[in-house]
Amino acid sequence: MPQRTHHSFDVAVVGGGIIGLAVAWRAQRHGMRVVLLERAPAVATGATHAAAGMLAPVSEAHVAERELLALGLESAARYPDFVAQLAQASPLDAGFLACGTLRVARDRDEAEALDRERAVRERLGLPVERLLPTAARRRESGLAPTIRLALEFADDHAVDPRAISAALADAFTRAGGELRTGAEAAALTSAGDRVTGVALASGAAGDGASIAADQVVVATGAWTERLGGLPAGARVPVRPVKGQILRLRDPAGPGLMTRVLRMDPGYLVPRGDGRYVLGATMEERGYETDVTAGGVFELLRDAIELVPGLSELVIEEVEAGLRPGTPDNAPALGAGALRGLHWAAGHHRNGILLAPITADLLLQSLTGSPLDPLAAPFAPGRFTTTTKEVAA
Ligand code: GLY
Repeated sequence: MPQRTHHSFDVAVVGGGIIGLAVAWRAQRHGMRVVLLERAPAVATGATHAAAGMLAPVSEAHVAERELLALGLESAARYPDFVAQLAQASPLDAGFLACGTLRVARDRDEAEALDRERAVRERLGLPVERLLPTAARRRESGLAPTIRLALEFADDHAVDPRAISAALADAFTRAGGELRTGAEAAALTSAGDRVTGVALASGAAGDGASIAADQVVVATGAWTERLGGLPAGARVPVRPVKGQILRLRDPAGPGLMTRVLRMDPGYLVPRGDGRYVLGATMEERGYETDVTAGGVFELLRDAIELVPGLSELVIEEVEAGLRPGTPDNAPALGAGALRGLHWAAGHHRNGILLAPITADLLLQSLTGSPLDPLAAPFAPGRFTTTTKEVAA
């Protein structure tokens, strides 16, 4: 079917990572006319491309961050439905793997830390099972005999971020959404206190044109600072947080590890077919994305200590991605300081996990419905001024 071209849209979503794609699909499916603008030649080339895809609200959360934990738990609970709806909308497999997660301790200190963590989680009523080394190795025979203790989080699963993004892009265009890749948004355009659309960078597909849209969603990840056109005080500050990550393949096929493995500070995520993702460093280095010998060495050293069989795997890919971090490392979700401006940015370590709930909350925001109270701590207004102040 030829692509429809609209002269103006109800919604322009800026950024084609998993967050922008999920929001765009939800809004288009709801009946809005949506254009999604992605500066790269393809979608999901930034943090989404690097991400391992842990759906780990329990094993990843710092329990002190109760509000983020609640948001993550709710998004994880919505994942099976989200993936099922996606399967109705696109034949592409989203790569959801209901595998559970093991967190392991290598020594006495780490074992004590795991026990403290287990106690807190039990108090919160979150599912967790304590496993002595023999029980853990019965479940995962690839684990080294030297591990001291393990916790199993049976509800923390994984999804393939690249696969689910391809399915979202396909579902979005099948629903009639307009996907423009190679279309770099230079700036938001506005009149008074209201956004009017997006100006494309010259040289971008669309040739420096402006896209008229009643509402604009900013889902630009770590590149948010580069988006122009926002008045002082209306901007959510987002910085890049580098993560180096490896992709491995077992020539012997699947089975070395069947669950996600968490260790301090990394993780190993199985894809279920003999492929694994091993991540990730946490580095504050601006937009630099070099892969370093030290970064790769530390990831491999820690993982091979816990799963010795990893040393036989083939390294298929190494890359560094940029997580989008706000000053409090929590996302900005919902209406911004200009009328028609909405934020879906700053998801830091949790973009893949938070995609379903972000899409649902942004649809509420775009339709002017009251936002689920879960979203209150993540209001963009904690970083920005009010619409009235911007207009003044
Ligand atoms: N969610 C894992 C990471 O950001 O490394």
